[in-house]
Amino acid sequence: MSLKKLDIYSLRNIQKATLEPSSGINLITGKNGSGKSSLLEAIFILGRARSFRATNIKQVIKFDQQRLIVSGQTIQNNGNISHLGIQLDGKNSDIRINQENSRKSELAYSLPVLLIHPKSYKLIDAGPQIRREFMDWGIFNIEDNFLGSWRKYKKVLQQRNSLLKSKQINQINVWNTELVHYGIMVSKYRKEYLEKLEPIFFEISHYFLNFKKIKLKYQSGWDESVDFQLVLENDFQKDLRYGFTHSGPHRGDFSVLVNGRLAKDFVSRGQLKLLMLALKLAQVKLINNIDLSVCVLIDDLTAELDIPNKAKLLQYLFDLQCQVFMSTTELSNFGDLTQLDNIKVFHVEHGEVTLQNTIVCST
Ligand SMILES: Nc1ncnc2c1ncn2[C@@H]1O[C@H](COP(=O)(O)OP(=O)(O)O)[C@@H](O)[C@H]1O
Ligand SMILES: [Mg+2]
Repeated sequence: MSLKKLDIYSLRNIQKATLEPSSGINLITGKNGSGKSSLLEAIFILGRARSFRATNIKQVIKFDQQRLIVSGQTIQNNGNISHLGIQLDGKNSDIRINQENSRKSELAYSLPVLLIHPKSYKLIDAGPQIRREFMDWGIFNIEDNFLGSWRKYKKVLQQRNSLLKSKQINQINVWNTELVHYGIMVSKYRKEYLEKLEPIFFEISHYFLNFKKIKLKYQSGWDESVDFQLVLENDFQKDLRYGFTHSGPHRGDFSVLVNGRLAKDFVSRGQLKLLMLALKLAQVKLINNIDLSVCVLIDDLTAELDIPNKAKLLQYLFDLQCQVFMSTTELSNFGDLTQLDNIKVFHVEHGEVTLQNTIVCST
């Protein structure tokens, strides 16, 4: 899958932009404040129906405009073309796939986008929510039945928590059974996912770093020496007192171990970023392995990596053969680009996007 055409209207400082991206690497150049991140934000919105840097979508709509629109055409590996579109006005989201009203999850299946930006290193050293989202997004893209189990788990959890809050506990056992049923399913998906991811993560980490032993350690969100059912029973008084469920996949997590130690506790900032990159790229590669490709968005990596690692990253992405959109203030940051084909450079200035014909760049 790749994005063949992209149209953006009234998004940040972009009044109107039309692009026909490369199915390989697309570099977005321009000065600070020109609109590079906004262009990536548009693609992210087309895949995820939300922004990656604003919780309130009104901030993303161009000043003095009522709504933003992003639309595009994707081409599947089998040659099929899909027309995607999203219109957001701050209250409603209108999503269309091939002219039909569609859901966010359908959009996410049609255009899987993965973002790497300066704060992405938090994947390893911040709280667990971001890692749960990481696992769930990865599984969502490779396991058709995951979304259903995950939604059911969330729903049962909500029900159970509201019963605990209102102290209506006579039906709690029924909800425990449901929670255990879906909780174990979600947890199994996550565990198996990390098992699939680990060898790829290991291989990519070695490409960027020379750590000897790297592991991913999964935590289910409950004391795994005990059955989940029993954990719920043991936690019951505590759950009732606080009005919420203390154990379960909603508390799940994983950690990155380097030479047997928690990476976040001792690796350098630079190493942390490379580990994050390896995790994200492993996720892309795993999805690619099963014939579904991801559109990778990389924002502002200029200040984050040194030139050799940037060139290595670009080469890796090129070899992965997935579609990439990467912003940079300087083309020369990436070393010699003349060796790479299937690459397009777009220049952004005051929200105007233009295709650059030639790559005049060397190390
Ligand atoms: N809602 C908005 N309407 C119009 N312009 C905006 C809006 N939000 C931000 N901007 C402007 O859009 C410009 C582009 O921002 P950004 O995409 O972050 O630039 P870059 O990534 O190239 O540094 C900035 O100059 C910013 O002031
Ligand atoms: Mg930016």
